[in-house]
Amino acid sequence: MPQKIILDVDPGHDDAMAILLANASPEIDLLAITTVAGNQTLPKTTLNARRVCSRAGIHDVPIAAGCDRPLVREQRVAANIHGESGLEGPTFSGEPDVPLDPRHAVDLIVELLMASDGDIMLVPTGPLTNIGMAMRREPRILPKIRHISLMGGAWGFGNQTPSAEFNILVDPEAARIVFESGVPLTMCGLELTHQAKATPDIIQRFADLHTPLGDFAVEMLQFFASTYRRMHGFDGPPLHDPTAVAWVIDPTMVETQPAHVDIETHAEFSYGRTVVDLHDVLGLPKNVQVATKLDVPRFWDLMVGAIASYGA
Ligand code: RIB
Ligand code: CA
Repeated sequence: MPQKIILDVDPGHDDAMAILLANASPEIDLLAITTVAGNQTLPKTTLNARRVCSRAGIHDVPIAAGCDRPLVREQRVAANIHGESGLEGPTFSGEPDVPLDPRHAVDLIVELLMASDGDIMLVPTGPLTNIGMAMRREPRILPKIRHISLMGGAWGFGNQTPSAEFNILVDPEAARIVFESGVPLTMCGLELTHQAKATPDIIQRFADLHTPLGDFAVEMLQFFASTYRRMHGFDGPPLHDPTAVAWVIDPTMVETQPAHVDIETHAEFSYGRTVVDLHDVLGLPKNVQVATKLDVPRFWDLMVGAIASYGA
């Protein structure tokens, strides 16, 4: 049976690729796409989710907009990485032909989980504001969430401050709710996602498909590559978010290690850090499966195969 998931995104180039991967995978039943403020403002991330689905012909998955700012701290976006629109690179003409679901994302997440028999996974690839809010809105969803596979955090350096990764730093208070919820959680952090750099030879694999979605992926990845080269000196942009989807599709593709993880919400310089006790120094309950190693060749075969599956 395909695994039912709700994908919570802030597109964002890598979120866009995560949507295309999840929708194309026979191992996944994509129940809904929910959007959150993150890489860009909520109107922009929501429009981008609709644009990606419109371009890919995804018309059977509800898209619902969620929280337009973090629970406590001021909003921050990542225009330096994803551009003013949040999905610079491709050109989009006219309005997407995919409607916006009228329900608030938090209400849709709660509704789907409460109607389920506990077989739904959540796959957040942006700030955890919607997920944290849903857990506070309706605590009865907690035992209904089969697993959370998220992109976020790091046990070492961050990418927004020396200590903090973007998704967690945007809303550390929401992240703390999620990481302390007791729901089984897999954390695909920067040490994992930086193994999935879309180098020029990888981008060429998408170009060699000679299909509309292959070309779409190239347009997105070439812009994403330009900003990651300029901001971080990388030879390829890390495809962060699809790794969280890949774990759902085939957990053997991602090695994990159980660890206790706390979210720093008080410190001045390490605010938003995922404090990962990889060596079990504290002897505290291991609340997170921390992703450590990606089967990189299989990941790219999966990603290219998914884009190819959309056909000519
Ligand atoms: O730090 C990387 C994460 O922040 C990714 O999810 C990217 O899309 C941005 O949301
Ligand atoms: Ca994201």
